[in-house]
Amino acid sequence: MAILNILKYPDPILKRKADPVTQITDEVRRLIDDMAETMYEAPGVGLAAPQIGRSARVIVIDVNSKEEGKRELVCMVNPEIIEQRGETVWEEGCLSVPDYTADVRRAERVVVKGLDRNGKEEVIVGEGLLSIVFQHEIDHLNGVLFIDRLGPIKRDLIRRKLRKQARVESI
Ligand code: NI
Repeated sequence: MAILNILKYPDPILKRKADPVTQITDEVRRLIDDMAETMYEAPGVGLAAPQIGRSARVIVIDVNSKEEGKRELVCMVNPEIIEQRGETVWEEGCLSVPDYTADVRRAERVVVKGLDRNGKEEVIVGEGLLSIVFQHEIDHLNGVLFIDRLGPIKRDLIRRKLRKQARVESI
């Protein structure tokens, strides 16, 4: 396993729609393992393949990431929201948008269908934080960041600050 570099906004890969995985090979399983290790190390509660520079529809999630004894890894290939219900607001952050959090409105409950690491279909019901993280990670697969879901004034303010920060760091 390996810890991978997490891309930061405004890296253009983060804006790209990721490709579906056509076959679950050992390479895909290795990607899942590396992504999980990277997520735990960060630490974060979710990670999508575009965040580590891979255009593949693969996500890993663990809402108990920070409590080692309670960890429960969810990994899904080609995830798809097949049902959603209710509305809720959570304060979100993102490993690709460091040092910023904002309230984002999302569905309260989602049902997500995809493939597990062995290519078997899995259907997972997400409620509470798990629902939020599923939606956040699937957004990543579609090139959408949480800051894209904010109102225009807040979004522009955050984008400006982040671009300035990126320029400073690249000097
Ligand atoms: Ni994120």
